[in-house]
Amino acid sequence: MSRPPVLAATREELAHALAAARRGGATVGVVTTMGALHEGHASLFRHARERVGSGPVVATIFVNPLQFGAGEDLDRYPRTWDDDLATCTREGVDVVFAPPVDEVYPDGDPVVAVDPGPLGAELEGGSRPGHFRGVLTVVAKLFGLVRPDVAVFGEKDYQQLVLVRRMSRDLCLGVDVVGAETVREADGLARSSRNRFLGPEERHRAAVLNRALREAQARAADGLPAARGAAMRLLDDAPGLDLDYLAIRSPDLAEIADPHPVEPVAARILVAARVGTTRLIDNLPLALGGATLPATGATPSGQ
Ligand code: PAF
Repeated sequence: MSRPPVLAATREELAHALAAARRGGATVGVVTTMGALHEGHASLFRHARERVGSGPVVATIFVNPLQFGAGEDLDRYPRTWDDDLATCTREGVDVVFAPPVDEVYPDGDPVVAVDPGPLGAELEGGSRPGHFRGVLTVVAKLFGLVRPDVAVFGEKDYQQLVLVRRMSRDLCLGVDVVGAETVREADGLARSSRNRFLGPEERHRAAVLNRALREAQARAADGLPAARGAAMRLLDDAPGLDLDYLAIRSPDLAEIADPHPVEPVAARILVAARVGTTRLIDNLPLALGGATLPATGATPSGQ
């Protein structure tokens, strides 16, 4: 039976818990969350444990108002404290930092915040202005308070992972930002705290997102347009789905310069859509190109 984690709600309590846990120069791992923990988060805790060995794994639970825009789901974001604590206990988390809003933002909205750069205004940032400013600012603050060696982020929020990694590098934060593979339901739907908002019919419809990405993977050897076309065929016909974007980018989310590379190159396909009132995102890696194109340069058959 695992020991329950030490709970900290204030900076002082966190510092106290960490001083004890750090003794002997232990490696510290952090998993930042907004609570409503599910199997995806549990897998992040396990990744963190693998990285830190007997060092402390810290979970932060904080629904960050700064990353929600007007009209987004801040108020209805699920809060499931008792279940979250049970998950942290089961997964052997050592310290849970769950501060109130005024502990993180004692002076209200911060005057100095982290600028996510141009990528912060694209894809998710295009649809959710200010979102990544809010994410990076709170993650920088949490890194400052926890001072972790390693931070584990899920690939489900792929753009977030890329930007946090970039922030740690560009601002010399010294945190090793590790990505962990998305945990999925049996039909491929990515695990997400927001899935609980889906009614049974919507839940069924939402599975098309992952099917579309897998279709794209299957056609990726034929180049970017073929991969994109394969995904769009499913998404265009999907009932009850309001597509926000489907994008194929490089692994660091730069635009793809060559849509038909002769040698396979790594890429990422990302999708965002609304099913009912719930906004869902997903992504998968692609190996783009490598198939021999017809000499005419025409798109391969089926396009
Ligand atoms: O991915 C999340 O849950 C949040 O964006 C994060 C990283 C905890 C920042 O609030």
